Amino acid sequence: MDSIVVRGGKSLSGKIEIAGAKNAALTLMPATLLSDEPLTLTNTPRLSDIKTMTLLLESLGAEISSLQDGKVQTMSCHGTINTTADYDIVRKMRASNLVLGPLLAREGHAIVSLPGGCAIGARPMDIHTDGLAKMGAEIDLKDGYLHAKANGGTLKGAVIDFPFASVGATENIMMAATLAKGTTVINNAAREPEIVDLADCLRKMGAQIDGDGTSSITIQGVDRLHGATHPVVTDRIELGTYMLAPVIAGGEVECLGGRMSLVASFAEKLDQAGVLVEETTTGLKVKLKGDRPKAVDVTTEPFPGFPTDLQAQMMAMLCFADGTSVLEEKIFENRFMHAPELVRMGAEIDVQGGTATVTGVEKMKGAPVMATDLRASVSLILAGLKAEGETQVNRVYHLDRGYEDVAGKLGGVGADIERVPGS
Ligand code: EPZ
Repeated sequence: MDSIVVRGGKSLSGKIEIAGAKNAALTLMPATLLSDEPLTLTNTPRLSDIKTMTLLLESLGAEISSLQDGKVQTMSCHGTINTTADYDIVRKMRASNLVLGPLLAREGHAIVSLPGGCAIGARPMDIHTDGLAKMGAEIDLKDGYLHAKANGGTLKGAVIDFPFASVGATENIMMAATLAKGTTVINNAAREPEIVDLADCLRKMGAQIDGDGTSSITIQGVDRLHGATHPVVTDRIELGTYMLAPVIAGGEVECLGGRMSLVASFAEKLDQAGVLVEETTTGLKVKLKGDRPKAVDVTTEPFPGFPTDLQAQMMAMLCFADGTSVLEEKIFENRFMHAPELVRMGAEIDVQGGTATVTGVEKMKGAPVMATDLRASVSLILAGLKAEGETQVNRVYHLDRGYEDVAGKLGGVGADIERVPGS
């Protein structure tokens, strides 16, 4: 297994190109199941999760071709569709569950493996299945697979009140509702930019959707959807990750493609920590005002609150801050696995349940550390930019799921970083 070696102490300067959003592409791709005409996505990120989704859709009968080294994906489902999503693919990536709604909408039945838990939590699917049941789907769990069938072969519009603003459930129900008979309203819907990006794409395909980006989304079912071409929205989590690099390492970096609207609550916290973020015509320019960031408290919330996917990266920055910060993780039950690894580098972090208290230190020391999940991995690399000596982050396959070429992007702005092929 490859590892990434960072040698701390280099300040950064230059520009980093931000890619298309993994969490938008992973819901846009299954939308191809809703039409028998081609759906083309541009600005698609080159990630292993995208490869996994490609394999899954091909196993269902989609024909997928890619251009520009994977940045352009054309998918079409005009033949017979296999409606069973196998465990051996689904277990690799939870987002595979986003084929459930589209398969039910198109074929009236689907067998989708439950993704199973992952490092950060149990991640059940009750909000997805309760919503689809309200639309007339019968869903039974057998041998780890959800067996779903739409009564009478077609889903019906319904008013669905979510107990929690689940991103994936909002996406599954929104896609399912585009071809249902009648009108569906999702209350307490997720408001993430990836939801709006999916709605924009579905509207280009002929769907009738209003209210995306607010907590109440209305979808008027139509008989069929046609093909479309759609650019994947910029990845706000990659953006936030690289915004922290100059704050931790020193210097100034411009994140190309970044827009303040994608990271408003995150940028507000950076402002409180003494970071200057300037929106230019080409992106977001970031640098630290003083020589140390200030401590700030963070609580993760659904959008537009502070994103849980930036909590680990923020913690890496707060390890160096002047003062004590309290981070509350309210979205996932086990998302502090980066903390003990940061402590091995000299950080002072006390984790009690869903709360981590970080007392900033002036110096941290490089060490061999273990990546446990996607965002934890990148937080260790960020800390390594500043830590004295060498930090070796192992199991970088976690990183490859959600970040294109981290070593190349950070090396391109002056970091002393390299990817070392595994033995
Ligand atoms: C999406 O996951 C993202 N993944 C996650 O990003 C992100 O952390 C999460 O939204 C929250 O923003 C993709 O978009 C592919 P949720 P999702 O449904 O849809 C509970 C990354 O690092 N829940 O909003 O699975 C669930 O257990 C990944 O890129 C239920 O209880 O998130 C969790 O505690 C990690 N029942 C909370 O809600 C359900 O039916 C948030 O889940 C669904 C969710």
